[in-house]
Amino acid sequence: MDRFVVTGGVPLKGSIAVSGAKNSALPALAASLLTEEPVVLHGIPRVRDIATMVSLLGSTGARTQVEGGTVRIEAARITQPEAPYELVKTMRASSLVLGPLVARHGRARVSMPGGCAIGARPINLHVHGLEQLGAEVTQSHGYIEAAAPDGMRGAVVHFDRITVTGTEDLLMAAVLAKGETVLVNAAREPEVTDLADLLTRMGARIEGAGSSTIRVVGVDRLYGTEHRIIPDRIEAGTFLIAGAITGGDLLLTECRPEHLTALTVKLRQAGVEVTVEGSSRMRVRSGGRLRSVDMTTEEHPGFPTDLQAQYMALMTQADGISLITETIFENRFMHASELMRMGANIRIEGRQAIVAGPRELSGAQVMSSDLRASASLVLAAMVAKGETIIDRVYHIDRGYERIEEKLAGVGGNILRVREGRE
Ligand code: EPZ
Repeated sequence: MDRFVVTGGVPLKGSIAVSGAKNSALPALAASLLTEEPVVLHGIPRVRDIATMVSLLGSTGARTQVEGGTVRIEAARITQPEAPYELVKTMRASSLVLGPLVARHGRARVSMPGGCAIGARPINLHVHGLEQLGAEVTQSHGYIEAAAPDGMRGAVVHFDRITVTGTEDLLMAAVLAKGETVLVNAAREPEVTDLADLLTRMGARIEGAGSSTIRVVGVDRLYGTEHRIIPDRIEAGTFLIAGAITGGDLLLTECRPEHLTALTVKLRQAGVEVTVEGSSRMRVRSGGRLRSVDMTTEEHPGFPTDLQAQYMALMTQADGISLITETIFENRFMHASELMRMGANIRIEGRQAIVAGPRELSGAQVMSSDLRASASLVLAAMVAKGETIIDRVYHIDRGYERIEEKLAGVGGNILRVREGRE
C-alpha cells in the first residue's frame, strides 16, 4: 500500500489546474448505458473510482475506450445487466447503473453496497423511486433485482430526504419512462445539473435540474453525444484550504467559482483572502492569523459534507473555538482522532466537533480511513512541524488525481512511497 511522506511548514505558492469532477463523471458514465450509440466524455479525472466504473460498464457488455481524460462508451448491447458484489464493495456509486439498466434493458441485478466508513448509506430511496416508476424490485442474497420488462411509467417521486445519487439514478430511469415524471425534493448539486445537461444532449426532455423539483418527459430512445465534465468543486475546495492552512498564495485554474460560494464565505469570515478571477480562476491568499468560524454541512448550495474534514483541519489553526456540525452522514469524523494524534484540540459530541485553536500540529504516522479524511490529513501534514507519514493513500487515489504531484508543483514537500502491492 502506498504512503505519503510529508514535511510541513512550506507556504504553497503557484497555480494548480483543477481536474474534472469524479462525482459528475460517475453518473455521466452510467448514463452512457441509456443508448446504443457511442457517448464520448471529456475531462474525466484519472482516479480509481473512474477505473472501477469503466470496468463495471465493460462487464455489462458495453465497449469502453479510455484515452487520457477522454472516455468513449458504446453500449450497443447489454449482455450482463449486473453490478457484482466484488465491484460494488469497492465503490458504492456502482448503484448508479441501477436506473439506466432497468430503463434501457428492462432489468438489473445490483449488489447492495453495504455500509462504508462514513455511514450505513442505504439505497432505499433509489429502490422506492424505481418502484414508483413501476419497476418490480426484490432483494435477495445481498442483491437488488429490479425489473420493468414493459418499460417504466412516469410518476411523482418524492424523496424522503435529499439524495445526490438517488436523484441521479431516478433521473436516468425517468428519461425513458412513458409519460411525465416529477422528482420532488431532488438534490441540487452541480453534478446533478451536469448529468441533466448530458442527458438533454442525448435527447432527453428535462426541466428544473439544479432546483428541488425536476420534471422529465420520457422519450422513446436516446442518442450518442460528446460532453465535457464540470470541474471538481471538492478538489478545488481542498486546494483553497491548502493555500489557506499553509499561509500561501495559490491560483486555481479551470475551476467554477460559483460552485464554491459556501466555502468562500467561510474562508473570508476566517480572514482568508479569496478572489474570483473571471469564470474559471480563483486565488487564495493567507498570511495572517485565522479566525475560528462555525460551520454546518448541508446539501448544496450549503457547505458540502465532502469539505468538512478539510475545513476541520483548517480550524485547528484558527483562533478560538469553532463548532463543526455534520448533518449528512452519521459517522464522518474519523479524521478527528488522527488530527488529535498530530496535536489538534478537538472534542466530538455526536454530530458536532468542537475545535479549539490555534494548536501547533506535529508530524506523526497517521492512517487514512476514507477519501476526504485522507485529504484532511494531507492538509494537516502540510502545516505540521516535522514529518508525517500517511498510510493507505489508496483512499485518496479514489478521488484525487495525482494530488501529491499537484501539491509538490506549488512547493509542497510531499512524496509518494510505493509500499509493495496495494
Ligand atoms: C454523494 O453520495 C457523493 N458521491 C458523496 O461523495 C457525497 O458525500 C454525498 O453525495 C453527499 O453530498 C457521489 O456523488 C458518487 P446521498 P450519495 O445519497 O449520493 C442517506 C465523496 O467523497 N440516504 O446524497 O451516496 C445517506 O445515508 C463521496 O466523493 C438514505 O438514507 O449520498 C446519507 O445520510 C462521499 N437512503 C444522506 O442520505 C438512500 O437511498 C445523503 O446521501 C440514499 C441516501
